[in-house]
Amino acid sequence: MLSKVDTFIFILSIRMCFSKLPSTITTCHRNDPDLENCIIKAVETVRPLLPHGDFGDGYRSPPLEPLNLDNIELGGGQQFHAIFSDMQVRGGSNFIINKLKANTSSMAFDLLLTLPRIDFIGSYLMKLNILLLNVHGQGKVRGFCENATALVKLRGIRYFEDNVELAKFTKMTMRININTFKMHLDNLFNGDPILSEVGNMIINDNQDLYLKEIIPGLQKALSQQFLETANMMLAYTTYDEMFPL
Ligand SMILES: *[C@@H]1O[C@H](CO)[C@@H](O)[C@H](O)[C@H]1NC(C)=O
Ligand SMILES: *[C@@H]1O[C@H](CO)[C@@H](O)[C@H](O)[C@H]1NC(C)=O
Repeated sequence: MLSKVDTFIFILSIRMCFSKLPSTITTCHRNDPDLENCIIKAVETVRPLLPHGDFGDGYRSPPLEPLNLDNIELGGGQQFHAIFSDMQVRGGSNFIINKLKANTSSMAFDLLLTLPRIDFIGSYLMKLNILLLNVHGQGKVRGFCENATALVKLRGIRYFEDNVELAKFTKMTMRININTFKMHLDNLFNGDPILSEVGNMIINDNQDLYLKEIIPGLQKALSQQFLETANMMLAYTTYDEMFPL
């Protein structure tokens, strides 16, 4: 992973080397009466490139597939404590844009997305006291969620550098709402097959306990990653090139 400073220098050096967008990125006229649809189409066009982040002609963004998340720590009390690590998340680039509100002059974009299916694998460590049962284990975890929705607010600024107007995104916030979530923990109760099955059933039946804790971490990690990708695209271009008159 590139550090923030490395990414910044990387973006700066790209801007100095290339003065023109890669042919894979479509631009939209800022006064397009159907600006929203134009942007949605432009995103659809680059979508196949988002998993690996190779935009051609030497242009790259951070790969979105898989998305690596580490050290999601939940609970911490006597009743519930869990750590998820080395998580690999797949499916994030298959988002569907249900709604978009765009204001290019103030660089404000609001999106409503559906994530049809997200799959994840990783490692876990968990202790859960529930129904007089002490569910515990450490091992591999896998799972998926279906039809999650995300309300995304992307905010940016326009600014001048050497008399050239540039744009960048400064903030992305995300509210995720998860519909169906299923998770399987290997090796609960040291792998005892019957207790393991019971434990997984209990864990899946009591998602209220942990989903509301997982979601903020997920929102933060995804926002950060998507913000970098969005800024990579702006880094290649000036405001006038990205949103021509
Ligand atoms: C865009 O935002 C600016 C500043 O907030 C506002 O003045 C303008 O009316 C907005 N344009 C559209 C098309 O909503
Ligand atoms: C997800 O949404 C699709 C399309 O709306 C629907 O066909 C499917 O049944 C949904 N799946 C779940 C698990 O809700």
